[in-house]
Amino acid sequence: MPDMLVRLYDLPDAAPYHARASAAGVRVRRLDAWDRTHLRRFVGERFSEEWAAEADFAFGGGHPIAGFVAVKDGEIVGFAVYESSRRGFFGPTGVREDLRGYGIGAVLLFRCLESMREMGYAYAIIGGVGPAAFYDKVCGARVIEGSERSVYGELYEEQRARRQQRA
Ligand SMILES: CC(C)(COP(=O)(O)OP(=O)(O)OC[C@H]1O[C@@H](n2cnc3c(N)ncnc32)[C@H](O)[C@@H]1OP(=O)(O)O)[C@@H](O)C(=O)NCCC(=O)NCCS
Repeated sequence: MPDMLVRLYDLPDAAPYHARASAAGVRVRRLDAWDRTHLRRFVGERFSEEWAAEADFAFGGGHPIAGFVAVKDGEIVGFAVYESSRRGFFGPTGVREDLRGYGIGAVLLFRCLESMREMGYAYAIIGGVGPAAFYDKVCGARVIEGSERSVYGELYEEQRARRQQRA
């Protein structure tokens, strides 16, 4: 699972994705402190405990909180955080399964990347990808040569060892 690099000074227009997400009745907004418990539950139940811990970490750095949520009918249906796994990193991110394909993942990604650009970064790293074709298509991300192990290498190895231990 390699890392990918995104040029923040050359981001494409996000407007079509905003329009699609909005037409699906979804609003993407920055995280607020009161989202913390709901977000941790959403990510833990639908993705993984490790991602839930990373999402939770986004709340630890003061304001602005380093992430966004997608909300539909008052419920969290997607999330994305940055500066969590490592400095300069985007992710993790995820959209509720029944709402994929409506541009929500792209809007979450753009909101985070634009925030990172505002922070002064010229590039962002997407760690341990994942759906490389999605990142390539939406923001022109490129796989970083030699990054196959990624910063999550140790985590994956330990998870594998635990699975083998249980089998
Ligand atoms: C990856 C993910 C966040 C994308 O969210 P989404 O809301 O479905 O994505 P969008 O609707 O914004 O997709 C934008 C474009 O990318 C394309 N796309 C989405 N997922 C893709 C994938 N896995 N591979 C290739 N293209 C993809 C869409 O078809 C769309 O293209 P279009 O503009 O031509 O219609 C979502 O599939 C998800 O939650 N996956 C599971 C968690 C995960 O893998 N997270 C990433 C960890 S690195």
